[in-house]
Amino acid sequence: MHTTIGKSVNSIQLGDCLDVMKSISKKSIDLIYLDPPFFTEKAHRLKTRDRTKEFSFDDIWGSDLAYSEFLYERIALMKEILKETGSIFVHCDKSGEHIVKAILDNVFGVDNFQSEIIWIYKRWSNSKKGLLPNHQNIYFYSMTKNFKFNPIYTAYSETTNIDQILQKRTRDEHNKSVYDINDRGVFKHGDRKKGVPLSDVWDIPFLNPKAKERVGYPTQKPLLLLERIIELVTDKGDIVLDPFCGSGTTCVAAKLLERNFIGIDKSPAAVDLSNSRLSQPIKTESNLLKNGRESYINADQEALSLLKGIEFNPVQRNRGIDAILVEQYENSPVLVRVQKSNETLAEAASHLLKAKVTKQAKKVILIQTKENDMFEADVNEADVNYEGLIVIPSPAVQINRALRNYPNVTGDRMRFLLGKDIQHFR
Ligand SMILES: C[S@@+](CC[C@H](N)C(=O)[O-])C[C@H]1O[C@@H](n2cnc3c(N)ncnc32)[C@H](O)[C@@H]1O
Repeated sequence: MHTTIGKSVNSIQLGDCLDVMKSISKKSIDLIYLDPPFFTEKAHRLKTRDRTKEFSFDDIWGSDLAYSEFLYERIALMKEILKETGSIFVHCDKSGEHIVKAILDNVFGVDNFQSEIIWIYKRWSNSKKGLLPNHQNIYFYSMTKNFKFNPIYTAYSETTNIDQILQKRTRDEHNKSVYDINDRGVFKHGDRKKGVPLSDVWDIPFLNPKAKERVGYPTQKPLLLLERIIELVTDKGDIVLDPFCGSGTTCVAAKLLERNFIGIDKSPAAVDLSNSRLSQPIKTESNLLKNGRESYINADQEALSLLKGIEFNPVQRNRGIDAILVEQYENSPVLVRVQKSNETLAEAASHLLKAKVTKQAKKVILIQTKENDMFEADVNEADVNYEGLIVIPSPAVQINRALRNYPNVTGDRMRFLLGKDIQHFR
């Protein structure tokens, strides 16, 4: 329990958030995310999947003044309980975004406006006249300039040229950005590349009607969306507040990410539902989000899954390389290839070694996925420089070897150089 705000930490409070927030200590919260009624002038209702229960909340105001006053009073109070390093994320859509933005500018100041996040998702409907709404808006304001921020990097798109990732850039005499070259006209390697910094357009799938995560609460948001917000501006142990928590999505995400949370909702059914979700969180994994839309086009997902646990950038449209590790080796990139099902180890090594030359890498890693073609003489050994090539058996190959009592399953022998050491191993 956090001493400054006592017993409300890691609980869901029932009541109007205006009253509950008055009992929260000033400057004690690291992140406030709110998904208040959007000014849709509708009552939102939804039945659970087994149709035994219906959840609902009202979003009917009569005038924009009534809605603005409601929100203003509460957002002004949020500013008092946010830490100097804290941030607020306010979710809205086209019904009330103009009102929300004006309130936030007034309360937090235009200078503390950080981003308007556009959450896009694919949703089809027989829309009436006009464009089909396919996004919602999340306004991100910080309390001060000194706000906490943990950069998130995303994968390069499939249209990114591999040289753009590897090569250092500089400015020429006309101040034009060009690749940097050394005295011998050879390009220089750039610094360690982490990927592309996260943009303000977030493509996160809407929870589909059959998603296990869906609890039947109207306008329930995906955990993946909340996890991203929480990771961006908080650390483990920080306190996250959702004053309109509904089904408790923010609190579940905070719990999964080892943050503390406070949820508030004026509906007893929402409080019960949040508590039951917290006792048994269920998250729907999104392959789309994990791998990116582009990666579906041509990255070898099976191959890349073998690299889970190391940071890497997947490489698209390249015959020799599947990935480049984020970690460099002696200031040069480390290239990785996973042996494909239709190629011998020697063929795979040959593709990778060609890429090693053109990309001027010092170390390349080949993951061997098949036993045991490594002595097929389809590469002219004399023509190939194996230096810097490391062959690592995949778990499947290692298991096969273990079952056959091959000696190289553990320790240093798992990593061996193609060439002489292979003869030795055999
Ligand atoms: C859009 S829903 C939140 C949905 C939530 N983000 C989720 O993922 O389930 C808005 C919630 O605000 C609650 N609410 C409305 N006015 C409130 C108030 N004054 N204080 C606290 N909760 C309120 C409603 O009961 C409703 O559950």
